[in-house]
Amino acid sequence: MRSYYIAGNWKMHKTVAESVALATELKDKLASCGEKVLIAPAFTALSAVAVVVKGTNIMLGAQNMGPEEQGAHTGEVSVLMLKDLGVRAVILGHSERRHSYFETDELVNRKLLLALKHGIEPILCVGETLEEREGNRLEEVVGTQVRKGLTGVAAVELAKVTIAYEPVWAIGTGKTATPEDADAVHAFIRKEVKALYGEAAAKSLCIQYGGSVKADNAAQLMAKPNIDGALVGGASLKAETFVPIARFR
Ligand code: 13P
Repeated sequence: MRSYYIAGNWKMHKTVAESVALATELKDKLASCGEKVLIAPAFTALSAVAVVVKGTNIMLGAQNMGPEEQGAHTGEVSVLMLKDLGVRAVILGHSERRHSYFETDELVNRKLLLALKHGIEPILCVGETLEEREGNRLEEVVGTQVRKGLTGVAAVELAKVTIAYEPVWAIGTGKTATPEDADAVHAFIRKEVKALYGEAAAKSLCIQYGGSVKADNAAQLMAKPNIDGALVGGASLKAETFVPIARFR
């Protein structure tokens, strides 16, 4: 039986103490969970949460990182610093970073290659806006994000990459793509990856869905053949809403 990849993106929420409290609760309540589980607290809480999840089945993730290893880059956080804290995965190209901080596909790709170079598993976020979807540009937009995001990734490295399909119009809005709509886009992403890396790589690629995932829609989404996990925002901020998603089956 395949295991699913359930990730919590805590975004810009929680103090260190609040983060430690939630991580501690999750560690206990998900101790026997068979899925791959990741939590991505704010940078400021990473070192404290790292202590809580060390040696458990919960992986530590970051929400972003700089495109350089080190140097004069005020305000950036380096892959080396994340690695030093025990971070195992990093969310890259989230729509909030693309739209609010103008991150381009080229920048996201530089970060992704750097993460891979240092053994940190990237989660490459892709997704269209409502305007793009209604203008029939979904495949053009998502296809470009996938191809440009993966530029220069060697076939052997692809297994470490997860793609998260997060339609921008579904993030934090309470509107979820229907399982059928999400599955169709996931199938399209798989087709793009097949063209780049071949059938076997496309088949084993993990594609998460993100956008208003809740306990009551998680099972239907993940029942779809092309949906391999979830990237959860709002519902990841409390154990009572995140645990049932990670334990959706
Ligand atoms: P919501 O689950 O709050 O819609 O956020 C999704 C998301 O952006 C996860 O990265």
